[in-house]
Amino acid sequence: MGNKISLTIDGKKIEASSGQTILEIAKENGIHIPTLCYYPNTKPAGACRVCVVEIGTAGKLEASCCTPVSPGMVVQTNTEKVMNARRMVAELLWSSGNHNCLQCEKNGDCELQDLIYELGIEKPRFEIDLPGYEIEDTNSMIQRDLNKCILCGRCIRVCNEIQVHEVLDFSMRGSHTKVSPAFDADYIDSECVFCGACVDACPVGALTFKQARFKGRPWEMKKVRTTCPYCGVGCQMDLNVSDGKVVKVTTNMDYGKPNHGMLCSKGRFGMNFIDNSDRLKTPLIRMDGELKAASWEEAYGYIAEKFASIKEKDGPDSIAGLSSARCTNEENYLFQKFMRAVIGTNNIDHCARL
Ligand code: FES
Repeated sequence: MGNKISLTIDGKKIEASSGQTILEIAKENGIHIPTLCYYPNTKPAGACRVCVVEIGTAGKLEASCCTPVSPGMVVQTNTEKVMNARRMVAELLWSSGNHNCLQCEKNGDCELQDLIYELGIEKPRFEIDLPGYEIEDTNSMIQRDLNKCILCGRCIRVCNEIQVHEVLDFSMRGSHTKVSPAFDADYIDSECVFCGACVDACPVGALTFKQARFKGRPWEMKKVRTTCPYCGVGCQMDLNVSDGKVVKVTTNMDYGKPNHGMLCSKGRFGMNFIDNSDRLKTPLIRMDGELKAASWEEAYGYIAEKFASIKEKDGPDSIAGLSSARCTNEENYLFQKFMRAVIGTNNIDHCARL
């Protein structure tokens, strides 16, 4: 934390720490400034200029997301000049892409849609110029429609600065600028590991989860917070449930540790097993050559009985235990304790592969 300084935002005297940005201190004090390219935990890019505010009496417009506070600063967040600048940005973005909300998966959860509504723009003053990119449809997890991309760079920053996969960057120049992996490859032919962080970061419908397309509107989706079952790390995630089915997995930076709003590809895209018809839902005991459904009590009783008789007949080293990387450290500790102290063997191994 830097030294305490005071400044004024919209006529309100505010205390801040030097080094904080105007946007940060405004958020802390409940002052709304719209943003598009700003993304928490990444370096401010100052790319979209939606967050402009007026500074001082000279009326200088600065991007609040990347302008540090200074002592005695006077900031205004909603003057006519500020609103006109924001409107210009919003209309240019609207007119330079395919922002047709009717068929967009992000309708109702789109930050450009929210901004245009907030600014009360009926239609852009510029002619709509569709970029005409092919929709990338070559993998089963993420759909990329660059016709909707607003070049905010959030996907690039989350990929490079948080996940550190360093797959994405801006390519081409001027009005042909786009986001792509190296050599303009499709995701499936690039180094992308399909963690899906770029989709979470996308403020519009340029990146969407393919499995969830047409399975439910954002406002119909119920988010159920849970812990990922794939390994012992305990990543926090939201199952997005529509019509009783999990249609996609998202997460939330506010959940904090251990994953701070990031997931791996298994946690993100590996939940199809939930509704798989082959999924085991009860223990099965083989009786007369046939697997029969049993209760957990019956199953544990059967296992204990078999362990006891094998141990008595052939000794404890005739039994081995194989644990799983899906278990927590505590569960694995208990498992080895059980094998050593109860069964009486050191025949223990684990499967570190899922
Ligand atoms: Fe500040 Fe985009 S949010 S420039």
